[in-house]
Amino acid sequence: MPSEDTKILLRESELPQRWYNINPDLPAPLAPPIHPGTGQPIGPADLAPIFPMELIKQEVSMEPWIEIPDEIREIYKLWRPSPLYRAHRLEKHLGTPARIYYKNESVSPPGSHKPNTAVAQAYYNKQEGVTRIATETGAGQWGSALSFACCLFGIECMVYMVKISYEQKPYRRILMETWGANCIPSPSDTTNAGRSILEKDPNSPGSLGIAISEAVEDAATHEGTKYSLGSVLNHVLLHQTIVGLEAKEQLKLVGEEADAVIGCTGGGSNFAGCAFPFVKDKLDGKDIDIIAVEPKSCPTLTAGEFRYDFGDTAQLTPLLKMFTLGHTFVPEPIHAGGLRYHGMAPLISLLVDQKVIEPRAYHQLSTFEAAITWARTEGTVPAPETAHALRAIIDEALKCKDTGEEKCLLVNYSGHGFLDLAAYERYLGGHLEDHEYSREAVAAALKGLPQVNEPGA
Ligand SMILES: Cc1ncc(COP(=O)(O)O)c(C=O)c1O
Repeated sequence: MPSEDTKILLRESELPQRWYNINPDLPAPLAPPIHPGTGQPIGPADLAPIFPMELIKQEVSMEPWIEIPDEIREIYKLWRPSPLYRAHRLEKHLGTPARIYYKNESVSPPGSHKPNTAVAQAYYNKQEGVTRIATETGAGQWGSALSFACCLFGIECMVYMVKISYEQKPYRRILMETWGANCIPSPSDTTNAGRSILEKDPNSPGSLGIAISEAVEDAATHEGTKYSLGSVLNHVLLHQTIVGLEAKEQLKLVGEEADAVIGCTGGGSNFAGCAFPFVKDKLDGKDIDIIAVEPKSCPTLTAGEFRYDFGDTAQLTPLLKMFTLGHTFVPEPIHAGGLRYHGMAPLISLLVDQKVIEPRAYHQLSTFEAAITWARTEGTVPAPETAHALRAIIDEALKCKDTGEEKCLLVNYSGHGFLDLAAYERYLGGHLEDHEYSREAVAAALKGLPQVNEPGA
């Protein structure tokens, strides 16, 4: 019999010592990143101008386990191990025989899972003498997480924030400034990428693709500066696996094994972090549903194509083989800003292509409906991104109600929504709407993808 505890806690001494690297366990080899100029796979030297070498090594590592340095574990202890909760009240409200567990990543200082990698990235940059890091942020969760991490290591932090969010969401910017970062709206006039967008459209609202271009250019053109990405790349997903590794231990403590693992996907990091240790069990033969949830207005996994594409609008990044809607596609302005990205982590893309992970898409209104049900049962107010995962776990629990199955369901509660209350106000006032993505816009963006001769194809 599983225990009836509400909070399942690990001691600090039980904090995982290693991250899990799924790369050597994949059912098919990961396609290499391609240099857009040469059409050849890129090597460490190509990435060295923008990333520290230790992160480049992690990006391509085939070691299944990677040691977490003590200094990082000490900082993790500010909020880790994070609690695993049983959602008793939600279960009762739904009348489901399923048992619902959620891993609460909203307890970190910036309020999301993002510092799991921000702290690690700041650490490796510091080790290699980097004094300044440039990055982009959409709604501001990643920018605030990196600002927090840089502050702990005495590194200057430069954040290009998508202009529409910069104007609509001042509190995340203020948080970044509180931790000592410099945050400016993107497109800006401080980079060639930004100036060329502004020349064409002085009122551009910006996008994550544009902000990435600006941050990469900033890192490549400033002495002592490197670039940092908050999702998508292998090393980022690696750092996030601490979430799933802890959750697995916590479930074990109460005599449970997950039948389904669910997370929302922007670039894929919180979902992968929670799910990959369970994906390993699935690849070893266990029957587990692994469900990735995205917005219907930015349906990368459910309507995109599995092809090589740029990670940014100005085509500065290497080409990655991933599910993509095309790097020029600009998603509708839904409130889950962290899920508005044209691409997806190559590791997740491959596992979706191999049918190990099931992708699912929801409209905005149904995710806010789930968020309200959650807030009125479990009490916490989720980020709009997290609400996508909550919609899916509620639907899975309702399916169990129909079938009578007593499944154990796990969801990653990736962040709180205290700085997203304007979106809640709009929803509660009946002013929020669903957005259909434009099939024509996606088709046009996909037409613009580069032709790549796949190595080994
Ligand atoms: C709370 C929260 N959840 C999820 C995401 C999506 O990002 P990822 O797919 O990298 O986890 C974000 C991105 O900003 C976020 O802030």
